[in-house]
This record gives sequence, structure tokens and C-alpha cells, in this order.
Amino acid sequence: MKRLVGIEALAIAAPRRYVDIEDLARARGVDPAKYTAGLGAREMAVADPGEDSVALAATAAARVLRTNDVDPARIGMLVVGTETGVDHSKPVASHVQGLLKLPRGMRVFDTQHACYGGTAGLMAAVEWIASGAAAGRSALVVCSDIARYGLNTAGEPTQGAGAVALLVSEQPDLLAVDVGLNGVCSMDVYDFWRPLGRREAVVDGHYSIQCYLEALSSAYRGWRERALAHEVVRWGPSLPGEQLARVLYHVPFCKMARKAHTQLRLCDLEDVPNAPATTAEAREERAKAASSYEAQVASSLGLNARIGNVYTASLYLALAGLLHGEADTLAGQRIGLLSYGSGCAAEFYSGVVGEKAARRMAQAGVEAVMASRERISVVEYERIMNLPYEAPEPLAPAAGTFRLAEIRDHKRIYVEGAAS
Ligand code: CAA
Repeated sequence: MKRLVGIEALAIAAPRRYVDIEDLARARGVDPAKYTAGLGAREMAVADPGEDSVALAATAAARVLRTNDVDPARIGMLVVGTETGVDHSKPVASHVQGLLKLPRGMRVFDTQHACYGGTAGLMAAVEWIASGAAAGRSALVVCSDIARYGLNTAGEPTQGAGAVALLVSEQPDLLAVDVGLNGVCSMDVYDFWRPLGRREAVVDGHYSIQCYLEALSSAYRGWRERALAHEVVRWGPSLPGEQLARVLYHVPFCKMARKAHTQLRLCDLEDVPNAPATTAEAREERAKAASSYEAQVASSLGLNARIGNVYTASLYLALAGLLHGEADTLAGQRIGLLSYGSGCAAEFYSGVVGEKAARRMAQAGVEAVMASRERISVVEYERIMNLPYEAPEPLAPAAGTFRLAEIRDHKRIYVEGAAS
């Protein structure tokens, strides 16, 4: 019998501080509408050196295990997808294993391919379980990143930080993945990268958008071919992409999801079999339909607009945002998910929202995480950005969170705030 495999539960972690995006625009002498309407941002998470990728990953991972009362002996694989690693050799996942005191009998590793690294880890976990090799065990996949372009750069309003932890198992209460339908596309391009030793990414911003859309097109068409063959979708009065209840995208900034959705629709409109001849302009106009974006995409972007880019975690923050608001409505319905990582790789896959998704999301405590954050001024944000990353401020961690306390003899020492 075919196994149901997918995401059983999730939890998010966000830095304790954020800056309002309109404050940032005013400080930069930019019309705030460029950041709000032009990029779709509202707030931007600001991580201080104590909130590194390990601390954020451990906080999210501990939260998903604690709030779902998971026995750690169930976990046979721990993967962290990140492009903000803290060591050339020792994986972030190994720190997380130690901080959470997880048992030794598990595979522990990081996956890296820019923002795609989290999905690479998730698919390794899903296919490990689907193959039967997991023999009933579960996986913990954590996506954790700090998006950093630097002060006064074009990328500055698209920064952010955070983590999403996913419990993956044969009890996919949140999302049962359609194993084997995935469409993928990889290309060797220089659209965004971070040379060794640099804290800030180097990015060819407008080219990166082109690469994203090109890779999306191939990945989506690959998924659609398999989905049509399995009769998961069909050509008919509605387009294949329209048969997905929602479509979630990698979200470097919210406006990108709108561009991505237009591109996905364009793929369908260009490929409709036996369609009456239309002009490219007419197809583009239909692809841009605001009603389709509002119905299929907009409701997933609430958390992304308030946290900013979280690289590997961005797609899963969109999943958290969607299910936080709509788990009940979507139970039993199929959604599509597009992961993109610069460099580049894209993967489109689908899954069915579980009947218990609303109950699981209530346990995730998303609202409490967001409400615990503090708004800071642009001056304070700039002070934090200029702190050396190897000397974290001596702040006490909030209850249930981890912080980097110091680096001693090249070893990173973390502290945990007692869970309340
Ligand atoms: N009112 C309303 N809208 C305004 C406006 C105003 N006053 N002024 C400008 N805008 C609009 C523009 O028309 C534009 O919208 P469209 O794209 O729909 O035309 C939008 O605001 C942005 O304006 P610009 O393109 O002029 O902005 P920019 O050149 O300063 O930078 C950026 C935008 C390229 C995204 C830059 O922020 C950047 O480099 N970000 C980092 C790279 C990135 O996020 N790439 C995404 C794809 S790669 C990826 O996804 C991987 C990843 O996570 C990094």
C-alpha cells in the first residue's frame, strides 16, 4: 500500500526585534509606497548576533517538538536547510541535535543550495520515509536563515530572518505530499551568491527575478506533466494551475509571489492544447488577473510581509501563514508549492491539506511568536547591523528560545531561556 507522507506539524521562530518598513523607507529618503506597494513589505525582522541561524533553528525545532509532545526517540533524521551556516565543517543541525539533547541514533546533516536548501532537505526526508527505509521513524527538517544585504543597498528592504521547523512523518496532518509528481529545474547562474567570508550577499537583483521566473516555468511544467498523467489535474474549462486551491511561492519579497503567479498562469495559457489563437498581450493580460492572485496566493503572505525574506524558510513561512488562517477551509484540498534557490534550483510540488491541520496550527502558537516581538527604530536597527557577529550582546534569552552567548576557543556556546 502506498504510504501517506508529509508534514505532520510545524513551528516558527522569529527574531525578537523588527523595524517598520515605512520607517526604513523614510530614513532612506524613499517613497514608502515603493516598499509597501512596490515590494509588498510591512515589517522586517532584525536578528542580532545572538540570534544566529543555530539559535533560530533550535528555537523552532524545540517548539515543534514541545508543542506537539513528540517523543525524540521517534526522530531518525534531522536536517537543517540553511545558507547562513556558522562553520565550514560542523553543520547547524549538529548544534541543534546537541541543544535539544536528541538521541544519537539519527542522521544529522545540513543541506545547502541557497533558498532551495530547505526543500532539498524536506524532499530527502519525505522520500526516505516514502521508501520505507525510515521504518516508521519521523524526520525533523528545519529551515533557518538570516537574509542580509547591508545598509543602504537595493536589497536592504528585502532582508529578514527566522526559522520554520517541520515534523515529517507518515501522519501528514498538515500536508500530505504528492510523492513523485515534483518538477525540478537547475541552472548554473550567478544571480545571487555569498562568497566565503562575507556576511552580505552579492546580488544581481533584476537578473535574479528573471532566473526565478525561468526556473519556475520549467519546474512547474515538469510537475504539470506528471500531474496530468496521474489525472491530478486536467486541461478543461479551468487551467491546471487553477485547479490548485492555493499556490505558495518562495517569497524573497511579497511582490515576487505576484510575479511568480503571473508566470505560472502564463505557462498554462501558452500550453493550452487546441486553444483558439490569441496574442501574447492578451495572454499576459489574462495571466495577470488580480482575481486569481487574490483567490490563490494573497492569503499566504501575511507572515512573509511581517518578517521579510527568510531564504530557505520563506516558502514554509508562507505555508504557516496560509494554514494559520485557512486550515479549516482548505482541509482535503490540494495546494501547489514552488521553492526557488539562487544559483539556481527550483522545485514545484503539490500536496493535500490534512483534516487535522487546524488543530495542529493552533498548537504552533504563531500569534504568540509574532506578538512577542518589539518594534525598534531605524537607528537601533543600524546599531544592531553594525555589531560584530562574533561578540553577541549579553541578553537573556526569552522563555523557550535559544541565544548564542559567546564564542570561546572557536566553539559556539548557546543558552536557553527556561520554557514558561
Ligand atoms: N510606489 C509604488 N511602487 C513603486 C514606487 C512607488 N513610489 N517606486 C517603485 N515602485 C515599484 C516598481 O515599479 C517595482 O515594481 P515592479 O517590479 O512590479 O515593476 C518595485 O517597486 C521595485 O522597484 P525597483 O525594481 O526599482 O526596485 P530596486 O531596483 O530598488 O530593487 C530588488 C528591487 C531588485 C528586488 C532589490 O530589492 C533586490 O535586489 N532584492 C534582493 C534580491 C531578490 O530578492 N531577488 C528575488 C529573486 S532571487 C530569490 O528569490 C532568492 C532570494 O531569496 C534572494
